[in-house]
Amino acid sequence: MKVLVVGKGGREHALAWKIAQSFYVDKLFCFPGNAGIAKVAEIPDIGDDSVESLLNFALRESIDLTVVGPEDYLAKGIVDAFEAKGLRIFGVNKEAARLESSKAFAKEVMKAAKIPTAAYSTVTDFESGDKILKTSKYPVVLKADGLAAGKGVIICATYEEASSELSQMLGGKFKSAGAKVVIEEFLKGEELSLLLLTDGTNVKRLLFSQDHKALNDGDTGLNTGGMGAYTPVKSGTDELYEKVDRTVTQPLLNELKKRGINYRGILYIGLMVVDGEPFVLEYNVRFGDPETEPLMFMLISDIVPYFWAVSGKEGSQADKNGSLPLCTTLEALPELVWRSGYGMCVVLASGGYPEGYEKGKIILGLDSVDENCVVFHAGTKFDASGKIVTDGGRVLMVTSSGKNIAEAVENTYKNVERITFDKVYFRHDIAHREMERN
Ligand code: AMP
Ligand code: GLY
Repeated sequence: MKVLVVGKGGREHALAWKIAQSFYVDKLFCFPGNAGIAKVAEIPDIGDDSVESLLNFALRESIDLTVVGPEDYLAKGIVDAFEAKGLRIFGVNKEAARLESSKAFAKEVMKAAKIPTAAYSTVTDFESGDKILKTSKYPVVLKADGLAAGKGVIICATYEEASSELSQMLGGKFKSAGAKVVIEEFLKGEELSLLLLTDGTNVKRLLFSQDHKALNDGDTGLNTGGMGAYTPVKSGTDELYEKVDRTVTQPLLNELKKRGINYRGILYIGLMVVDGEPFVLEYNVRFGDPETEPLMFMLISDIVPYFWAVSGKEGSQADKNGSLPLCTTLEALPELVWRSGYGMCVVLASGGYPEGYEKGKIILGLDSVDENCVVFHAGTKFDASGKIVTDGGRVLMVTSSGKNIAEAVENTYKNVERITFDKVYFRHDIAHREMERN
C-alpha cells in the first residue's frame, strides 16, 4: 500500500522509519519531511503544507493510509477533511483534538468523569484570577488554554510572579490561546508518559516512557519540548497500568462516548505519579516527541496493521480500492511486542533553544554512529550544496538501546559524542531516574 506521513520532526522520522519496515508498505511519502526523513520516505513536491494541498496530493496519488504526527493538523481538522473524501487517515478528528487544544475543556471532561487530576479553576478575567492567586498554595501552575507550542505552562513560585504571569497571559502573551487560563494546584511526584492506541472502545497500550522536559541537567532551567526520553520505566508497573486503565482511560473513553465524541487515534496520557497514585497532568491527542523515538526503536510488531485498524471502518473508499486483507478491528489484533532491555534518545539542540537560536549549521558525524543507533532528525534540511544543516531548535534525536539502562545510556552517549555542529547543546543525564533506581 501507499502511505503518507504528515509532519517534519523527530517523531515523524521515527514513525516513517518504522512504517518503512512494514510488510504492507510499498511506497512511503512524508510531507513536509526533513533531511533525515528523506532517507526512508519520498518527500513529494506539493507546494505548501496546508490541509488542502495534502488532501489533493493524497487523492492524486491514491494514498491508502495517511498518518498524522503534529497536533495542529489534528486541531485544524485534517482527519475530518480526509474522511469526508473517503480517505483512510490515522489520527483523531477535530472534535476529539480539543482534549489537547483546550486545557479548560480537558479539565472539564476529567472533572465530569471523576478522573484524578490537580484541583483547578478556569478564569477569563484578571480580577477573579488574581483573587484565586491570593489564596493559592505555592508553587502554582498557570496554563494557557489553547495550543502554545509547549510554552503555555508556567510554574510560579510566588504570588507576585503568578499575578504578573496571569496578567501577561490574559493580556495576549500567547494571543488567543491565553484568553482563558487554567490555574492549577502543583503536584509533586514522578512524571510518566503512557501512549495508547484506541478506536474509542478498545485499547492497545505502548510501554511507559519518560521525557525530560527541563533544559538542563538535574531537571533545571526552562521548560522545553523534551530533551530526551527512555522506555520502559521501572516505576511504570503492570499494577500502575491497571490503575490508570481503571481510573483514567476507561472513565475518559466512556465520557467521550457519552458526549458523542468519536476518539480514534493515539491517546497520550501525561501522568504525575504521587505516592503510587496516578494523576493526569495533560492529554495529548498524538504521539509524544521525543517519547516516540525510543518507542518505535524498541517496537518489534509491525505498526501498520494497528494504524489501519484504528483509522477507519470497514467499507470506506480505501477498502473498496482493494488494498490488503488487513484486520479492521483493534480488538482482534495481538498486544504489541517489544524488544527486551531499554531504548533511549538524547536530543541534540541548537544553543539558545528554547529561546533564540541560529540555523544553517553544518552537521558533522552523522555517518559515524554504530549499527545499533539511529539518528532521528527533527530540525534539519539540505543546504544548496546538498549538505545536511540545522533547521530548528531541536535538531537530532540520537537513539540506541541496551540490555539494561546503564548499557543503553553508554551506547547512546557514545554515539552522541560522534556528532557535532556549531553550538550543539544536550543534556548529559537522560534516564537519570532509572539509573538511580538500578
Ligand atoms: P503540560 O504542557 O500540561 O504537559 O505541562 C508542561 C509541564 O509542566 C509538565 O510536563 C509538567 O512537568 C509541568 N506541570 C504541568 N502541570 C503540572 C502540575 N499540576 N503540577 C506540577 N507540574 C506540572
Ligand atoms: N514529550 C512531550 C510531548 O510530546 O508533549
